[in-house]
Amino acid sequence: MTDEQFFTGSRKTLYDYWQEEFRARKFLKGGTRTPMVEYVTREDVDLLRNATWLDIGAGAGFIQSKVDPRIYRMVIALDISWEGLKVHQCRYSQRICGSFFSPPFRRGGFDIISSFFCLSDYPNLLEIVDSLVFLAEGGKFILVDYAEGDEYWETRKKNHAPELIGNINLRSEEYISQEVYKFETIDLESVEVKSFRTSTKDLSSGYLELPETITRKFIHCIFVLEKSRKNSEFFSLSLHRDY
Ligand SMILES: C[S@@+](CC[C@H](N)C(=O)[O-])C[C@H]1O[C@@H](n2cnc3c(N)ncnc32)[C@H](O)[C@@H]1O
Repeated sequence: MTDEQFFTGSRKTLYDYWQEEFRARKFLKGGTRTPMVEYVTREDVDLLRNATWLDIGAGAGFIQSKVDPRIYRMVIALDISWEGLKVHQCRYSQRICGSFFSPPFRRGGFDIISSFFCLSDYPNLLEIVDSLVFLAEGGKFILVDYAEGDEYWETRKKNHAPELIGNINLRSEEYISQEVYKFETIDLESVEVKSFRTSTKDLSSGYLELPETITRKFIHCIFVLEKSRKNSEFFSLSLHRDY
């Protein structure tokens, strides 16, 4: 088995991967991500106040289930997985099945776009920047994901666990900062990296030898869009892609 067989980078493979019901259901709960989710739902709550909020890769809605619905104006849960949206647990979310590579929204319509534990599937971070055309001026993009050094994913990648199909792209703070500065339209306000220790008993992986405790490492970024946009060409990028 080679790396390429597991880390295909194929959008079609990723699409199929996320259509499995059991996989969608795994994200009904936070598991070892819970400390990071608690951090976000506590620290970022002011960003969500009265916001029109688009969550990309919302899946089973664990994050939405942790946010008081009186805080935001509306939330749209976008996901490529029907199975994820079927079990989406926040009744205030408007569920839309689709990819953030071709989302069906009006430009500039959202105050907040977020992405939780989703972009590590994709090798090229800059590709997702297309979705930011849906942010209003001065809008904010919250990105939360597993970071470089996350012991769980680093171990799985090293051992080529047979069920691991997607690209798990673990990024560092430095890497993200460098990438986003390639886009003049994005003004990065802050980047934080948090790490937590957690017990393996929540881990669903039965085929890996893992130490008794592992360090989960997460990245938490807030990108703030400029108040007036300079580069209008950026907004005419083609969004017509299938996955
Ligand atoms: C690891 S799950 C995280 C779900 C949720 N954000 C959470 O933290 O509980 C990743 C989710 O991203 C979705 N996803 C992957 N690629 C996507 C894309 N191109 N557009 C929309 N959703 C996508 C998957 O279907 C899956 O539901």
